Amino acid sequence: MRILVVGSGAREHALARTLLKDQGVEVLCAPGNPGIALDCDIAPVVPTDGEAVTALATDFSADLVVIGPEAPLVAGVADVLRSAGFAVFGPSASAAQLEGSKAFAKDVMQSAGVPTAAAHLCTDVTQIDGALDAFGAPYVVKDDGLAAGKGVVVTLDRDEAIAHARACIQGRPGGAVVIEEFLDGPEVSLFGISDGSTIVPLSPAQDFKRVHNDDRGPNTGGMGAYTPLPWAPANLVSEVTRTVLQPMIDEMARRGTPFSGLLYAGLALTTRGTRVIEFNARFGDPETQVVLARLASPLSSALMACATGTLESLPALEWRDESAVTVVMASEGYPESPVSGAVISGPVESATDAVDVYHAGTSRSANGELVVSGGRVLSVTATGADLALARVHAYDIVETIEFAGEHHRSDIALKAAKGEIHVP
Ligand code: AMP
Ligand code: GLY
Repeated sequence: MRILVVGSGAREHALARTLLKDQGVEVLCAPGNPGIALDCDIAPVVPTDGEAVTALATDFSADLVVIGPEAPLVAGVADVLRSAGFAVFGPSASAAQLEGSKAFAKDVMQSAGVPTAAAHLCTDVTQIDGALDAFGAPYVVKDDGLAAGKGVVVTLDRDEAIAHARACIQGRPGGAVVIEEFLDGPEVSLFGISDGSTIVPLSPAQDFKRVHNDDRGPNTGGMGAYTPLPWAPANLVSEVTRTVLQPMIDEMARRGTPFSGLLYAGLALTTRGTRVIEFNARFGDPETQVVLARLASPLSSALMACATGTLESLPALEWRDESAVTVVMASEGYPESPVSGAVISGPVESATDAVDVYHAGTSRSANGELVVSGGRVLSVTATGADLALARVHAYDIVETIEFAGEHHRSDIALKAAKGEIHVP
């Protein structure tokens, strides 16, 4: 099977490396990065350019195209590929609106009876005060459009809430902001892969969104993740599949915009029950790195079954009885203003049974050195018999990789490993 993976982050690196473990699979990644290039061929392409991606898929004689990031999905790249006859893992532009517009996602959740935070959509700055009053502090203020995980401000400071809401509305033509009820309780990322009618859940993970230890500092794209969740209720995955994932798939099909690809439910386990914080229309980053580390079944068969509408007959997915932890190594200034150019040294090519170093914001300088070229630079992923051991394996490698200005969280999976997370 010849598979084109579109994207250039650590998520795509994990996808490519995992797919390559399946028998008879060849992978081309576009545009990829220097780390991915150690595993498979890479080709330059602008991921949001549907015609260019389709031309590349044609040249490569791809049997399957897997689209990693949200931007090409929202831009309709999956639609262009499907019209050209390719099997694609990733939703249409219409279905990707579940991620592209928070207001659309709320509307579908309401029709599907899926529990989420109560919310007000504001399209005019005069509506901001009323919406903030409706829910009180802590204030949750979200850019309605795509913002790479950084469009959300959760704050006790009303002035900060107002400033962010104004920036979302005035920042671009048609700008809008969603102001919503604060959800307490631990967060879970649960992914489901779907062919538009059936949905199969993957191993639940937890992401660390804030930049600093103890969930301090601004939101990022994600500073680390782990799976499974020893503290989660035993029926969490089956309950969320029944009450969230399947109803969303059914409602999208009913609307004539079936969702085929990966549906990512960001959940809060609150004192009043499980609530959806957000949906994404693609694999999460960095959760994918840990989820795939536990997957024992062939990933290529699962993604192909989604792309060809045959998920119902796929054998049940199997999971390794191991824990996985990933730690993101970030560049100086991330997330506000990442600084590029620092030279990276250490075991950046690791790919062993216990550890994978996945590349994201890396590139080659003119003289061939590996240098920082983005905010999240590397995603160091390790497995172990339990979370404590997986942490040791991951941090052992993190401590040996260096670049100027590097920072990471030292508490990824720590509370879970110590049994300090409790569901209300
Ligand atoms: P989102 O981009 O919607 O996933 O939001 C990013 C992060 O902001 C989430 O992972 C939560 O930590 C936080 N967040 C978003 N919505 C809420 C909410 N209603 N209540 C509490 N925290 C939230
Ligand atoms: N880790 C959060 C995301 O992928 O959106």
